[in-house]
Amino acid sequence: MKVLSVIGARPQFVKASVVSRELRKHHEEILVHTGQHYDEELSDVFFEELGIPKPDHNLGVGSASHAKQTGEMMIQLEELVTEYDPDVVLSYGDTNSTLAASIVASKMDAEMAHVEAGLRSFNRDMPEEVNRILTDHVSDYLFVPSQQAIEHLEAEGITESVYNVGDVMYDALLWVQESSADEPAVLKRLGLDPNNYILATVHRPRNTDDAERLAAIIDCLCDDPREVVFPAHPRTVSCLADHGLLERADEELTLIDPVGYGDFIGLQANSELIVTDSGGIQKEAFFLNIPCVTLREETEWPETVEEGGNVLVGADPEKIRDALASPPISTSDATPYGDGTAGEKIVEVLSS
Ligand code: UD1
Ligand code: UDP
Repeated sequence: MKVLSVIGARPQFVKASVVSRELRKHHEEILVHTGQHYDEELSDVFFEELGIPKPDHNLGVGSASHAKQTGEMMIQLEELVTEYDPDVVLSYGDTNSTLAASIVASKMDAEMAHVEAGLRSFNRDMPEEVNRILTDHVSDYLFVPSQQAIEHLEAEGITESVYNVGDVMYDALLWVQESSADEPAVLKRLGLDPNNYILATVHRPRNTDDAERLAAIIDCLCDDPREVVFPAHPRTVSCLADHGLLERADEELTLIDPVGYGDFIGLQANSELIVTDSGGIQKEAFFLNIPCVTLREETEWPETVEEGGNVLVGADPEKIRDALASPPISTSDATPYGDGTAGEKIVEVLSS
């Protein structure tokens, strides 16, 4: 079997590492990086650390408006699908790279496989929600991480070729934990004591582009007496500067560049509390059983909230402060996202 995998943004490198490792045992993989993320700390670092093979092609699309970015990816992907004639085009999650891959594959002689199918936030103002829905509706293989994802697809009339394989990010986490030290070096490097700091990330346009929301979030984090470690996405740094918040954030928070995957898992595992608007980090917090305060009004990972370890606070200062003062604690041992063998299962289905 010949598989053309399309990835482009930070969380997709983590997810692809899991499937690529399994796939290459018996099949041919052509790896295409769209270039959506291009900074060393958002891209190269993951390839080195997770042992992802060097991409066969980097489309170099870079940052642009949604249409320009997606369109440029589609033009180049169409040429590559023509050149390689793969059996399957494989992509992950809900980014513009996922959407470009799925539209191109669906109109060509290749089957589309979507990993992380069936997730819904039910908020169509999020570009990712549009990407998810469109991708699911043109996919030939829908690999879902949970039972609720199956139900979302059923509600939209998609019942064929849906496989509950669990969450690939759980596989990735177990893989990195096997090789990491109990107290990771990143803690020493940043002078942190385990269980004695808050870890925060913000990168959703709804939070970064809206000055009022970003100011409310930064205020609450700065006012907390605990140390707040904040590895900042470049989008966030530029919005902090645009909204006149960068100086305060830099002075009162431990504002750092994004870190590699192993370091970030180490920072999460040893934190007292995580504050984030990331999809992947909500889940990692859940797997690591660290309380998570989510700076969004809804989540596509509702099980993390239902099991008690995650609370949705949006950018409402009162709710954020309350959650920081009494973080959500989960006593559940439920495993809604599978058993950490999603990569094997995906390859098994594709091979059969
Ligand atoms: C994208 C995904 C989002 C995902 C996130 C993971 C879409 C629509 N959004 O959001 O779902 O959660 O990746 O991190 O696909 N930039 C850099 N260097 C880079 C990449 C980006 O400086 O290497 C800056 C640019 O100013 C760019 C901005 O970040 O305009 C946003 O990048 P983009 O890839 O469009 O979206 P993300 O916010 O990263
Ligand atoms: N991550 C990382 N370094 C960081 C921040 C995040 O390695 O500085 C990892 C994190 O562990 C998770 C993934 O990046 O696996 C989440 O990506 P992101 O929050 O950018 O996107 P989302 O999951 O919201 O789409």
